Amino acid sequence: MDDIRLLEVKVLLVEDRPEERVALQRQLGLSKVNAVIVGEAGVDSEALTMMEGLRPDVVLLGLEEPLARPLRILESLTVAGTAPVIAVSSIGDREALRKAMRAGAREYLVKPLKLEDLTKTIDTIIAVERRRRLLLSRGPGTGTLGEVIAVLGAKGGVGKTTLATNLAVALAQETRRRVGVLDLNLEMGDVPIMLDIVPEKTIGDVLGVIDRLDPELLKRFLSSHPSGVQVLSSTGEFKHMNGTTNDEIGRIVEIMAKSFDYVVVDTAPRLRGTFPSVLERSNMVLVVSTPDIPCLKNTRMMLDMLKSQRSYSDKVKLVLNNPYKASGVKPDEAGKVLDYPVFWRVPYDSLVPQCIKVGKPCLEVRARAKISRNLVDLARILSGEARTSRGLFGIFGR
Ligand SMILES: Nc1ncnc2c1ncn2[C@@H]1O[C@H](COP(=O)(O)OP(=O)(O)OP(=O)(O)O)[C@@H](O)[C@H]1O
Ligand SMILES: [Mg+2]
Repeated sequence: MDDIRLLEVKVLLVEDRPEERVALQRQLGLSKVNAVIVGEAGVDSEALTMMEGLRPDVVLLGLEEPLARPLRILESLTVAGTAPVIAVSSIGDREALRKAMRAGAREYLVKPLKLEDLTKTIDTIIAVERRRRLLLSRGPGTGTLGEVIAVLGAKGGVGKTTLATNLAVALAQETRRRVGVLDLNLEMGDVPIMLDIVPEKTIGDVLGVIDRLDPELLKRFLSSHPSGVQVLSSTGEFKHMNGTTNDEIGRIVEIMAKSFDYVVVDTAPRLRGTFPSVLERSNMVLVVSTPDIPCLKNTRMMLDMLKSQRSYSDKVKLVLNNPYKASGVKPDEAGKVLDYPVFWRVPYDSLVPQCIKVGKPCLEVRARAKISRNLVDLARILSGEARTSRGLFGIFGR
């Protein structure tokens, strides 16, 4: 998988004291960032000239007492706006941090620097910048770029499709925005069954026109659900499974994201069935597990693999879904087995199999059911429309 750290990160050091510059250089060298120091400047107007001339990806600025001068330089660098600035300081109090943030620092790191913090901070900033530049390069009027939410599971039958379809309907209902579902369980997609759709066209047809796919053309391949959700289906696309490339799927996700405000992606079990381009483009990756030891073990392996890709780790959220009547392993125990915080817990609800039988989302069959309220709350949290009056009863940990 493409890792952000393979790319060089051009760093400009803005620091008055030579010994501190040497220390920063050494720490960058020891960190996992593939950093290249393109220039060094004092905390004065030279920094601005160098930033504009050298076009670094990120600026590290030493912020020490008296704060007035470094804050002024920080503000000028921010206004020039060619690179994000990380303030590095030995002052750990809130007031200095607040001033630095107000002057435009993207991050504030307190010395002694922890290598892990330095790496994570730069990785995150670079990932955001890359995305921002991509957006800008597309220019205005090229359509929206929606949030992509991928639903993964380390085993079959954990409830991915149940969650993906109901979450999509909940997002449409709660946000009143355009929501698409992409069924990437190419071999055995069952989104159409769960939403009682008979698709006229599927991903197989889209692959035939992939080279000229755009949002307008995509419309021909979508199926509408009464909730407003549009589905790009995939029923028995076995013949396409092996030949489909990561880039082709990446292209479909990209065009879906241009066409909708939210794209929920249902996937095949295990990482083998998950395309890296989907993970890369996703804003959020929900890893669904059932609360039993065999599934938790597989989930742990999946999470470890995703965690090792630093650029993914922040967006990977663990969801415990319980499709069994018995309660299973408790959320905090599950969190321990997985060494990962449980983000959301979906309760068992006997309504789910009934809904699947009739091909209707649970929200439509019984809006007040446990499962419906739970997924509406999840939709509100994920969309940032967290105006729930019921509180975040489904949330555990972060
Ligand atoms: N919260 C729940 N309460 C009750 N039953 C559930 C719940 N979640 C899922 N189920 C049941 O579990 C079964 C599997 O669900 P689903 O098809 O969504 O899993 P999946 O992960 O998409 O499976 P696959 O890997 O085959 O695609 C379904 O029969 C469904 O009724
Ligand atoms: Mg499924």
